[in-house]
Amino acid sequence: EKQDTTPVKHPEKVKTRTVTILYGSETGNSQSLAENVSQRLKAIDRTVTISSMDDYKPKKLKEAEDLLIITATHGEGDPPDNAILFHEFLHSRKAPKLDKVQYSVLSLGDESYEHFCQTGKDFDKRLEELGANRIHHRIDCDVDYEELAEEWINGVFEFLKNESSPDTSQELVKTSPAEQPIYSKSNPFSAEVLDNIKLSGKGSNKETRHIEISLDNSNLQYEPGDCLAIYPKNDPVLVQQIIETLGWNSEQTIPINKQGEIRSIQEALTSIFEITRLTKGLIEKAAIHFNNEKLSQLLKNTSELKTYIEGRDWLDLLTDYPPKNLEPTSIMQILRKIPARQYSISSSHQANPDEVHLTLATVRYHTHGRDRCGVCTGEIADRIKPGDMLNVYVHKNPNFKFPFDEETPVVMIGPGTGVAPFRGYIEEREELELKGKTWLFFGDQHFRSDFLYQVDWQNWLKKGCLSKMDVAFSRDSKEKVYVQHRMLEKAKELYEWIEAGAHIYVCGDEKKMAKDVHETLHMIISQEGRLDEQATKDYVNKLKAEKRYQRDVY
Ligand code: 2AM
Repeated sequence: EKQDTTPVKHPEKVKTRTVTILYGSETGNSQSLAENVSQRLKAIDRTVTISSMDDYKPKKLKEAEDLLIITATHGEGDPPDNAILFHEFLHSRKAPKLDKVQYSVLSLGDESYEHFCQTGKDFDKRLEELGANRIHHRIDCDVDYEELAEEWINGVFEFLKNESSPDTSQELVKTSPAEQPIYSKSNPFSAEVLDNIKLSGKGSNKETRHIEISLDNSNLQYEPGDCLAIYPKNDPVLVQQIIETLGWNSEQTIPINKQGEIRSIQEALTSIFEITRLTKGLIEKAAIHFNNEKLSQLLKNTSELKTYIEGRDWLDLLTDYPPKNLEPTSIMQILRKIPARQYSISSSHQANPDEVHLTLATVRYHTHGRDRCGVCTGEIADRIKPGDMLNVYVHKNPNFKFPFDEETPVVMIGPGTGVAPFRGYIEEREELELKGKTWLFFGDQHFRSDFLYQVDWQNWLKKGCLSKMDVAFSRDSKEKVYVQHRMLEKAKELYEWIEAGAHIYVCGDEKKMAKDVHETLHMIISQEGRLDEQATKDYVNKLKAEKRYQRDVY
């Protein structure tokens, strides 16, 4: 065999500035964007350090050169879990002067939330205050973030390549994810629904369902803690009412994106565009096309606008502020795409190689004179039967990952549908024949009607895949009992588990449950460890830093 003896050329290394990429990620989107940027920078020979914000020693900031921040925003404008400490540090008096730093911020968010992209805005403003130099304006992305994120990346690269050495600066390397799964957010898998069962029993106030979906021939993989994302279809009755209100012909075709793809109005309003919620951004765009004076007035009154969009949809808007001669072709300029809904997976892939299971609470409510329901949970409850198809993809959640050994104790807190990932995890442990210490706290309203997966838990307790379970049925007694009350009752033992290295997981309602559980955890640690407030905070922060306290809350 002939050997290639041409000497490899080593272009002279010119010292370039280091790029520091910090991400704040709740469900993994910011992290994967950050990793993508990092790979592309390395491909043009830039030195890159990348980490989640809370894994980064904030003192190193002073020496940072080019700083790229990619962050999501959580809940009421809060930083994601792995960005809280960094966010706090940067906004404290301890934050250093950063006049040697060049930076840019990319923020991910959801325009339907009031504090859209707030964390990104915070960082952008604060870095400027600390003297850092903005090299590219901040871009705030809505849920369909891909295009805008790419625009930001290109803008940032345009700047960074000019400051690097001449021989490495020529080409802007395009994304080349080597092993991109075939089915993804932009190319979902059409999956067959195998089963759709109501879990909640007679007398329940809730309608919780168990869905089984086939992943046969999809090559999709998932691990306990991951989510399945579903692109729902809008309610055909609502679509019909909208088309009638506008007096349009449902078969007429309209463009649905900048690339010029077209769909019938019927199909576009059913599967492409979001018609079930209003945002300020939507009203601004609508005002341009509606030619309705009253709507333009509404836009000027911030508090009235905020009240109006709450709980209303596109049909309400069309009824309350009728447009004059709205062109069907302008739909694309007004409405955003239907975002996929993510649900924690409640099965183990190892135990069900071709399936994925979900546990969904159907959302139904009455407001502004009409019965309404969650787009996705409503579709599944009312219109999806076994044999029907759903467009899905797997969303990896790097911030909700479980240990698979027999030494690490695991504490799981998941009331209601928050129990989903724990079913998947324990099922996987059963498959792997793992014993060890695992403790589940489950809660719901009534023992008789809401004990989700009761038989599964009982079997796993018997087998030893689950070693302990405490339940809190809140409406079976006079006094409300919640999971955190059970945790407090077992404070001593819980603390022993934590001291022995336990990992703690919380899944479910964010605003009430997860907040109260978080406080209770502090109480237990302070009480059992005899720690003062600051020491308790430090203890919990250390748990977080060691990834021993992870949450999937919504
Ligand atoms: P409730 O509806 O009776 O108030 C799952 O939804 C369970 O979580 C229900 O039993 C619900 O009780 C309970 N829950 C409501 N608020 C909670 C909170 N702040 N902390 C923990 N559990 C809560």
